[in-house]
Amino acid sequence: MAVERTLILAKGDALVRGLVGEILARYERRGYTILGLKLMQVSRDQAQRHYAEHEGKPFFAGLVDYITATPVVALVVEGHDAIEGCRATNGATNPIKATPGTVRGDFGQTVGRNLVHASDSPAAAEREVAIFFHDAELFTRAHALAAWLAE
Ligand code: RTP
Ligand code: MG
Repeated sequence: MAVERTLILAKGDALVRGLVGEILARYERRGYTILGLKLMQVSRDQAQRHYAEHEGKPFFAGLVDYITATPVVALVVEGHDAIEGCRATNGATNPIKATPGTVRGDFGQTVGRNLVHASDSPAAAEREVAIFFHDAELFTRAHALAAWLAE
């Protein structure tokens, strides 16, 4: 068991359908700490770097178009085995295969509009967090606790 950080995206379909709060609540309720959170427009450069592993695949262009077409909500969460845990909360890539009770299993129909992203390894998480957040935009648990105690 390791304390990990991971990058989550609530993608455009989640935003347009008004499901962002519902989705974020699931990571919160599971006990992950939010270290960073923003509504942002993803540039084509960020999208291409984020999805670099899929370059050359038939769905790559559509993926970049989709993630840059609308704002997304990006967040960094931290917790025990957060990488595996958040991917389990998201469910299988194809919503039809995703278990009910997961984000994709509850709200999705197609792989091209599957609502969320989560990093798939510690190396990917580190790389992806740096694409979406500056260090100064991330808060530690200690910062959050200190601010709360001060009040
Ligand atoms: P994600 O990266 O979004 O957390 O999802 P994942 O690891 O489960 O899936 P991945 O293979 O990394 O695919 C990234 C995103 O590309 C879209 N996709 N489309 N048309 C297709 O066959 C296809 N396959 C993947 C999905 O939106 C997926 O989330
Ligand atoms: Mg992936």
